[in-house]
Amino acid sequence: MKAYFLIFFSLLIFSCKKSEKPINDTNTNLGPTADSAMVVSAREEASSIGLSILQKGGNAFDAMVATEMALAVSYPFAGNLGGGGFMVYRKADGETGSLDYREKAPLLATKTMYQDEEGNVIPEKSIYGSLAVGVPGTVAGIFATHEKFGSMPIEEILEPVIALAKRGFVVTENQKNTLANYREQFLKENKDTIIFAKTYQAGDTIKNLQLAKTLERIMQNGKEEFYGGETGQKMIAYLQERGGIMSMKDLKEYQTHWRDPIEVNYKDLTIISMPPPSSGGIVLGQILKMLEPYPLDEFGHNSVESIQVLTEAERRAYADRSFYLGDPDFVDIPADTLLSDAYLSSRMDDFSFDQATPSSSISYGELPGYESDETTHYSIVDQFGNAIAVTTTLNGAYGSKMYIEELGFFLNNEMNDFSSKPGVPNMFGLIGAEANSIEPGKKMLSSMTPTIVEKNGELWITLGSPGGSTIITSVLQTILNVKEFGMSMQEAVDAPRFHHQWLPDEILFEPKGFEAHILDSLEQKGYHINEGESRIIGKVDAIKVLPNGRLEGGADKRGDDSAKGY
Ligand code: GLY
Repeated sequence: MKAYFLIFFSLLIFSCKKSEKPINDTNTNLGPTADSAMVVSAREEASSIGLSILQKGGNAFDAMVATEMALAVSYPFAGNLGGGGFMVYRKADGETGSLDYREKAPLLATKTMYQDEEGNVIPEKSIYGSLAVGVPGTVAGIFATHEKFGSMPIEEILEPVIALAKRGFVVTENQKNTLANYREQFLKENKDTIIFAKTYQAGDTIKNLQLAKTLERIMQNGKEEFYGGETGQKMIAYLQERGGIMSMKDLKEYQTHWRDPIEVNYKDLTIISMPPPSSGGIVLGQILKMLEPYPLDEFGHNSVESIQVLTEAERRAYADRSFYLGDPDFVDIPADTLLSDAYLSSRMDDFSFDQATPSSSISYGELPGYESDETTHYSIVDQFGNAIAVTTTLNGAYGSKMYIEELGFFLNNEMNDFSSKPGVPNMFGLIGAEANSIEPGKKMLSSMTPTIVEKNGELWITLGSPGGSTIITSVLQTILNVKEFGMSMQEAVDAPRFHHQWLPDEILFEPKGFEAHILDSLEQKGYHINEGESRIIGKVDAIKVLPNGRLEGGADKRGDDSAKGY
């Protein structure tokens, strides 16, 4: 996995100098462009299928259904039927909203289910196997979207996806590597060998005929096929045979939620992002509001001053996240206060450019639950001017690694996004918080940050990223790269990134992306530098509306991501 990240990382050209680009939205060093509509996702097949729906006259919401399911076929690493996600939308008339189709805890889940008799957390229990699986939301999510906004028959939308599952997708070099990396775990978690445990070479084709059959049944029977029909029954039987606690009642009671998005102003931009149970919108909004008084464009892209001020704002926002955020249907979240000017302007009072603020001196003394990196984001703008940003996940790579061969899909391990035991560090050294403790039917806190940005009230950018807790800071830096440092969409997506999340008290830098003298200066000011983990930070897929109305895609070079437009 790490090698795979590095290959793509080495393709990046890094610059840590002050921005020399004009800050006027007229950068001509563009990524792929299109006249009318665009889909940017983690796989070429998914972007092409989404685009084909738009070309047939479908809207962004029809294309969402097709793209989401095409990712489930061609990108089983994170695309899914057995997971969940979030969508933020902005319709052509300016109406905004969001859909929560996050997984939830089964009704038999308990607060201490990942602890032994002495109360010690058993980390693997929330990562592997049947107890790690949250009640999936993805199928409910696509049907909720289609019911509210869809314009094409579901059969026409799913037909190319089913054809892809039958025809097969071509294994890329990245996929060959990730499949090889997880083969042992696939074999460990599944009684029998599964199609994804075979040895593949780049260029091989993987057909998923079982998934094609599942999708055909879903096409015929609708959402009930998954939440009450043959597919749901087989999934529950599979889990219960393996000691799982999920039941048909969990499936029947699963509900999506249309939620008001978080909307925050930053200069002439309005940031429209995901509300709880994702922490994405609130934390992104807090960081931007704390940054607003600082002249980032004068400091320069990835300069010492810029890194300092972003780090300090991130440190403070992630500290709040840990204590206050969870499922809004279970805990009261003081969103207005957390995003108020009065609160946020005081939050940076103790910051000085001379010295790092130690995280130990920052409230709140509770920490977010761990979220791993394996999620996927896609962005769509249609020919009518509707825009969507969708982030969907199985949590870990291939989720719990539990694969229902008969149905053709992996199951999530989203339960690991809860705090297994509030106040006790988990296996990643992070401490969970009460607001995100496990309760029956509760949704686990997320960092997914599907986001739409308006400029002067008009659609400007739609974007998002995988990357667990680094999702928020990846989205943040991509927006700032365009707004403050004059980058095109593609440049903004590809630029090297860094991340701070309060605790551990360190700045994580993408390797080889930052000049030694920058890191030395930061170290001298008391910042703890972590450049050794050899990992990418986020994998952003974005679309920007250019001043002439054309669209520019930013498909992250760190993966196989692809922008398709017409
Ligand atoms: N599982 C990753 C997230 O929801 O943030």
